[in-house]
Amino acid sequence: MRDITVKLGKRSYPIKIGNGILVEAGAHISRLNLGSNGIIITNPRIKRLYGAILKKSLAKKGIGAHILTVPDSESSKSYKVFSGLINKIAKLDKGRKPFIVAFGGGVIGDLAGFVAAAYRRGVSLVQIPTTLVAQVDSSIGGKVAIDLPVAKNLVGAFYQPRIVISDISLLKTLPEREIKCGLSEIIKYSIINSRAFFDFLSRNIASLKRLEKRNLKHVVRKCCLIKSKVVSADEKDVKGVRAALNYGHTIGHAIEAASGYIGTYNHGEAIAIGMIAAAIISNKMGMLSKKELTEIKNIIARTKLPTRAKGFKSPKILAALCHDKKFTHGINRFVLPVRIGRIRVVENVPKKLVAEVIREIAA
Ligand code: NAD
Ligand code: GLY
Repeated sequence: MRDITVKLGKRSYPIKIGNGILVEAGAHISRLNLGSNGIIITNPRIKRLYGAILKKSLAKKGIGAHILTVPDSESSKSYKVFSGLINKIAKLDKGRKPFIVAFGGGVIGDLAGFVAAAYRRGVSLVQIPTTLVAQVDSSIGGKVAIDLPVAKNLVGAFYQPRIVISDISLLKTLPEREIKCGLSEIIKYSIINSRAFFDFLSRNIASLKRLEKRNLKHVVRKCCLIKSKVVSADEKDVKGVRAALNYGHTIGHAIEAASGYIGTYNHGEAIAIGMIAAAIISNKMGMLSKKELTEIKNIIARTKLPTRAKGFKSPKILAALCHDKKFTHGINRFVLPVRIGRIRVVENVPKKLVAEVIREIAA
């Protein structure tokens, strides 16, 4: 399968997608001449499942690699864990500039990416995503960050990797809940970008849940293509193009925050509810038809993702919404679908309407 390129001039990089390509990681990385001092950042579960394969592949090309593990939780995207990592890396450095391999899901990718961005004012970064969310979204585009108690991803950087290596065979050990979370992001891409893709997903959601390889590869590739184009057009998220990727994230992030990041809903689940909320807002503002709103609700329900924030009190979600960094100077900003495959970024959605829709989804 041909590589996808994230086009960013001299900082362009390839995304390699394939089945069983982890064993080739060493060969791909050695071609980049990143040195022989690799630091793999991962968690104990991924280390146990796939750490030896990656180490062996690197060793074959003469690249030594230390594996550093962090707890398997969103709470690892913290200053404490970040500072622990950079102190360990400083001890392993011994004057040989290391490169970082982020080997895991979005938590590892965001954390290890931020470590790579900060250590020695930036060392090379390789992303080897192991969840569906990470393969279709978080490993691409250079948004790296840690969380603060007040909000997610509040401290971070734009720091692009040198290469992304996505081995879809790693997904076979992923819990079903995490597969569904990846599907949530995949559905997001279709709603913001392509009616045809949305229809493909509607027809194939069951086979994708079973990780049927041909469809899975097609879908991962399609999402990477969409994201790479968006990132190439608006790397720093300042032109309103990249904002499209935040569809479902405004209320989704607020639900995540309200559930304490490690609570009831994880990222993909919260985004699923957020996508429905944004579609309802769009419908109530006269921009999205009832029929397409129903289609959006249906595909999310058929994926067995949550469609409502059950057990949440709407004031808690509203309070979390006000801390969102997508809100500047108190002006809210929503990505609203105007039809499936097309979105509009709308500022200043009436607060009354936002509150009404939050009450509706938090029923
Ligand atoms: P995650 O990183 O927490 O991984 C989910 C779970 O799957 C973890 O328990 C992990 O150990 C396990 N796991 C990972 N790979 C596995 C495998 N191959 N087999 C078995 N188990 C495996 O969750 P995620 O959904 O990948 O990432 C969520 C994070 O990503 C959030 O912090 C979110 O903010 C961030 N994110 C960032 C971006 C971005 O652009 N930077 C985009 C989307 C999400
Ligand atoms: N996941 C949102 C972005 O990369 O911009």
